[in-house]
Amino acid sequence: MTSRTPPPRQNIPPAPAEGDVNTSPRRQAWQEQHLDTACRALLDRDAALFLHQSVSTPCLNAIRRAEGIYIEDMQGRRYMDFHGNNVHHIGYGHPRLKQAIREQMEALPFTPRRFTCEPAVALAEKLRAIAPGDLGKVLFTTGGSDAVEVAMKIARAATGRFKFLSFWDAFHGAGFGAASIGGEQLFRSGPIGPLLGGCEHIPPFACYRCPYGFATDENGQPDLQRCAMACANALRYVLEKEGDIAAVIAEPARAVPYLPPPGFWSAVRETCNAHGTLLIFDEIPTGLGKTGRMFACDHDGVTPDILVMGKALGGGMLPIAATICRPDLDVAGDYAFGHYTHEKNPITARAALTTIDIIEEEGLSEHAAELGAYALERLHDMKDRHPSIGDVRGRGLLLGIELVRDRQDRIPAAEQAEAVLYTALENGLSFKTTMGNVLTLTPPLITTRAEMDRALNILEQAIGDNA
Ligand SMILES: Cc1ncc(COP(=O)(O)O)c(C=O)c1O
Repeated sequence: MTSRTPPPRQNIPPAPAEGDVNTSPRRQAWQEQHLDTACRALLDRDAALFLHQSVSTPCLNAIRRAEGIYIEDMQGRRYMDFHGNNVHHIGYGHPRLKQAIREQMEALPFTPRRFTCEPAVALAEKLRAIAPGDLGKVLFTTGGSDAVEVAMKIARAATGRFKFLSFWDAFHGAGFGAASIGGEQLFRSGPIGPLLGGCEHIPPFACYRCPYGFATDENGQPDLQRCAMACANALRYVLEKEGDIAAVIAEPARAVPYLPPPGFWSAVRETCNAHGTLLIFDEIPTGLGKTGRMFACDHDGVTPDILVMGKALGGGMLPIAATICRPDLDVAGDYAFGHYTHEKNPITARAALTTIDIIEEEGLSEHAAELGAYALERLHDMKDRHPSIGDVRGRGLLLGIELVRDRQDRIPAAEQAEAVLYTALENGLSFKTTMGNVLTLTPPLITTRAEMDRALNILEQAIGDNA
């Protein structure tokens, strides 16, 4: 007799430690204290129906509203959302975006393949206008992972090479291609292999915890005389040795966050040029004003050959991502790299166009630069008062506070970070921790100075309470 139930797999390797955060005692205690019966019932239904996944299962809580910089849970508690998956640059539910989507739904709700439409073409023109350098040929996808894989295909086709070089600890998406160039164990190790061949990784720039062993000063600044930018040299070494790498792919500013040492990307650009290797920037979380410029790479004055954006492109409402490349890389017209069902969806295209208009017209990049500089100054002051803050860093509204057990040894204080997260949540501020001990703040670009002050007060109190 045959059975429809396959036997359980016996050979799934143990999950990495990060998997535990969803069921940590602190999280469970927080849930017991704060969630009522109705909310718990919803979480149980969710857990029963959705495939379980590390990092998102079981869910922490459920929300019923998202507006401006706030999310509101089922019991009416409001949290300033300083995480938002980096989709909420213009805040949740921007009235102008809602109106534009409504109008677009009335005018033209869908465009089948083989047809085009005004919003899709206008969006392509807009992206060409805001992208760095002469990037100008695009494809749209529904998610960032797909857009990254479009970039990989373009690179392979244009160079005739199949290898990629990327960084450990980077996340580039969950598809097989994106996971293969990603450097996070959760997404690439364990039961899903084998991954794509030809994907090599090197340790990333991470000055405060330089994987090449160089020390920074007490302000977390690298001593470039001493390290001679070992991270850029390692990359050059691999490109030279391999000789046939199609593309280097990286986030220009790492979402941890970590900023590149000055001159890093110029050095990488030169190396790529010397070896016929393309440079792909994944600006999915950092693009569209987050770091205080339209794109994070604008700070470095370096233009990639291909740039990928997503997340906030849909205005925090709709899923759309885009890959934009140099026009001369458009070499494989006889094949199909995307051809996604929603490639020219007029509603998602309209949402993206309107979002970019809002970012430009409301001066949100400039505001992110100013507010981010102000927040960073306050975080540096905070560091003077709290010895558990080992490092603060960031650019624009991508900010990180690294908690340590002592400054000298820089031992990560992951437990304290988790405690700070739940205390802050209790006081109305939501953010996430990265690498265990980095409190990562990615507020919307519409956050006011008063809201930033309130958030930083909550944060400082939570750090003090959990010292
Ligand atoms: C740097 C980076 N690349 C790619 C992705 C994947 O985007 P998506 O979740 O839309 O597939 C993400 C998402 O978090 C990201 O942060």
